[in-house]
Amino acid sequence: MRKGTILIKGGTIVNRGTRTVCDLYLKDGFIEQVAPSIDRSADREINAEGCLVLPGIIDDQVHFREPGLTHKATIKTESRAAVAGGTTTWMEMPNTKPSALTQRLLQDKYDIGAAVSPANYSFYMGASNDNREEALRTDPKTVCGLKIFMGSSTGNMLVDDEKTLDALFSDCPLLIATHCEDEATIRGNAAAARAKYGDNIPVVEHPNIRSAAGCLKSSTLAIELAKRHNTRLHILHISTAEEAEIFRNDIPLAEKRITAEVCVHHLTFNADDYLRLGNKIKCNPAIKSEHHRKALLPALLDDRFDVIATDHAPHTAEEKAQTDYFKAPGGLPLVQHSLDMMMRMVQRGEISLERVIEKMCHAPAICFEIDRRGYLDEGMWADVVIYDPATEWTVAQDNIFYKVGWSPLEGEQFKGRVRQTIVSGHLAYDRGLFFEEMKGERVLFDR
Ligand code: DOR
Repeated sequence: MRKGTILIKGGTIVNRGTRTVCDLYLKDGFIEQVAPSIDRSADREINAEGCLVLPGIIDDQVHFREPGLTHKATIKTESRAAVAGGTTTWMEMPNTKPSALTQRLLQDKYDIGAAVSPANYSFYMGASNDNREEALRTDPKTVCGLKIFMGSSTGNMLVDDEKTLDALFSDCPLLIATHCEDEATIRGNAAAARAKYGDNIPVVEHPNIRSAAGCLKSSTLAIELAKRHNTRLHILHISTAEEAEIFRNDIPLAEKRITAEVCVHHLTFNADDYLRLGNKIKCNPAIKSEHHRKALLPALLDDRFDVIATDHAPHTAEEKAQTDYFKAPGGLPLVQHSLDMMMRMVQRGEISLERVIEKMCHAPAICFEIDRRGYLDEGMWADVVIYDPATEWTVAQDNIFYKVGWSPLEGEQFKGRVRQTIVSGHLAYDRGLFFEEMKGERVLFDR
């Protein structure tokens, strides 16, 4: 299908650390021209005066639950929520049902993505204690990475065998993305909580069970393995002050072999929020005390942390309402609201808009060596977000697009909102409406 041309007029473009009022001319999927004033006819013209024009967000960690867990989410529903929030590219995790542990199962997910996703997509290959050969067959040019759960979470994908870990880190030509929490530490803490509370462990105990010490131990092991084998390692969702100390900022991102992601919920919530939100904010790694939350932003700002993501992990309201600590699943739906959460921090003066764009758009593109995305430059894929900074709105049931229909932000007010989202050169979203005749593209990598 022909993507045609779109002219975006008069917006303030935020790109590569600068803001300029410029027009953008998009043609057949790509950005053809960026200039102060473009007078060309186009199939569609968008007046962006008074709006910010941003590169589409690249979220390197989402759980869209398909196949097998589609009562929680589908690739189509969550991908819609993504574009409504300004995310044009996502990378999805392998803990579906079945888990993506063979090339066939991985390809099945790509087939669904191609058929239904309004956003650009990539799916991680999964690792287990016994799929090494299959995992190593993954093509680094067409798959974002290999996910290793070095701590257990939703799904049974724990890789805790040290020999397996060593072999994967030594041979893998792909980027390895890890979930780092030490299983033995968690088990010990859980047993202690059970001894103290019996069957009534309160959710406020979650950060004590899934402790900061467990995170540090596991992240330290991952870094040791990566250094031993010169592996390209990306540690996901860093949540503690101590881990912030183990990442470097003295070399440019493009040269780093070890990188780190921080998530919007760990930057936003702290342990006091369990009293208000309970299991809604139960997730792995846990949201921890204010001491930890406060240490994350400085590490992001001085480049010890490289990218911002969501770890979007929807579970139904009923699943979350279970009172048994061990039954209530970890994870919260966030992909629609990541830009809103970061823009609120911009408005509070905690981070600049340019740094948000760097960490949500440019840095994921560098980190994963993505082919022609992440910037508003001529010749790049046209992934563009038009954001109206003046609109005031409240997160409510009727504007949440997640299949689960709830958000930990319900009732919260925001100033500024995504107005339109263009994915690979076609208008995918416009003020509550989705245009789905055209789909997103499979992301490719320059490796
Ligand atoms: O809280 C989490 N939920 N953390 C993860 O690592 C997995 C995720 C899920 O899939 O539910």
